Amino acid sequence: MLNTYYNPVRTYQGVGSLSVLPQLVNGLNPKKILLLIWDKSVLENRYIKETAAAFADILTIKTFAWSNPEMFQLYEIYNETKNENYELVIAVGGGSVLDVGKSLCCLYAKPVDSLETMRNMIAAKTYSKPHCKWIGVPTTAGTGSEVTCWATVWDSEHNKKYSVDTQDNYAYAAVIDPVLASSMPVKLAVSSALDAVCHAAESYWAKAGNTVSRAAALAAIKIIMENIDGLLCGKEEAHDAMAQGSMLAGLAFSNTRTTACHSISYPLTMKYHIPHGVAVSMLLAPVMRLNQPYIKNRKELFGAFGVENVSELSEKVTAILEKSGSPAKLSQWGANESDFEELVAHSMTKGRADNNPAELTAVNVEEILRSVF
Ligand SMILES: NC(=O)c1ccc[n+]([C@@H]2O[C@H](COP(=O)([O-])OP(=O)(O)OC[C@H]3O[C@@H](n4cnc5c(N)ncnc54)[C@H](O)[C@@H]3O)[C@@H](O)[C@H]2O)c1
Ligand SMILES: [Zn+2]
Repeated sequence: MLNTYYNPVRTYQGVGSLSVLPQLVNGLNPKKILLLIWDKSVLENRYIKETAAAFADILTIKTFAWSNPEMFQLYEIYNETKNENYELVIAVGGGSVLDVGKSLCCLYAKPVDSLETMRNMIAAKTYSKPHCKWIGVPTTAGTGSEVTCWATVWDSEHNKKYSVDTQDNYAYAAVIDPVLASSMPVKLAVSSALDAVCHAAESYWAKAGNTVSRAAALAAIKIIMENIDGLLCGKEEAHDAMAQGSMLAGLAFSNTRTTACHSISYPLTMKYHIPHGVAVSMLLAPVMRLNQPYIKNRKELFGAFGVENVSELSEKVTAILEKSGSPAKLSQWGANESDFEELVAHSMTKGRADNNPAELTAVNVEEILRSVF
């Protein structure tokens, strides 16, 4: 088997790592910069403020406050900014803002005259190579979007999820300073952390795994699971652990993508608005149960979670979700058993379902849904 790994993103992680931002920007010498932020509060950060001030004459600040970006929202911001000829996008926010900033880099490369054209272009992946570079500064921990080369665009109206996805669109750099994520409410912090844990676990057992991705995945799971109680009780240092964990998980799944938990979660988020991290982590234990016979070194995987078996994992994840204030059962999110057929039909995302080590069938997906009902 070919054992190969690739990720070109320069990463700067740790408390104070944002101090590199002005030099990074300077090194790129852009003529025009878009600073895309989730909220104006990030401008109070010393280094973001310094960067905005140092490049004030060439930098535009825009806020994108939406979660789970919809196609029409991406089109709106593209339309508002397309004539500016930006040479650098700095995206400061959760996965939603990072994905929008990342998508814009590709969209700026060729004129898009309507929402319909954009939808078709993204669906057919006929967008061009990126027009400009981007720097990812995550404020959640997280999606790992700062180290992956794809961006998720939702289209709830048509019940679809798209990706702007090309190896040419990795970030120039990722600056992962836990100070930005420390303002997250506990519920969001936990759901983000569990999303990262699923990226890592799914990467570990993915068909597309390799030695480097598996090592990063195990390290990610271990650091997140060892510190998640600290996150729940508000320990400051837990944020740095989550930042490291989500970055490592991102580096792992940047090469492998995800599998069944993500694939089955998309219709759950679309239909019941279950936050992404909650939806994927709810499915983690039942998917692990299905996959266990196919996982090499599964003892190491259980060890990283600090459990002996799937039942213990299920109890642990359920307890974390409940302590954070998120219901851990589908019925608590408004699901009905009569929805199962429709959910199953939308669970087989290409590139995710077929990357799962155990084959996904309508029967086993329904069993998984039933087990978390
Ligand atoms: N590209 C990738 O590799 C990748 C991977 C996983 C998920 N995603 C996508 O990322 C999106 C979800 O991202 P997310 O989970 O980071 O959440 P998010 O970016 O949607 O943010 C959730 C909410 O929290 C707010 N927020 C952001 N930072 C905050 C902070 N520090 N304090 C308080 N509030 C804050 C946001 O404005 C938003 O309202 C989804 O669209 C998902 O599909 C992308
Ligand atoms: Zn995810």
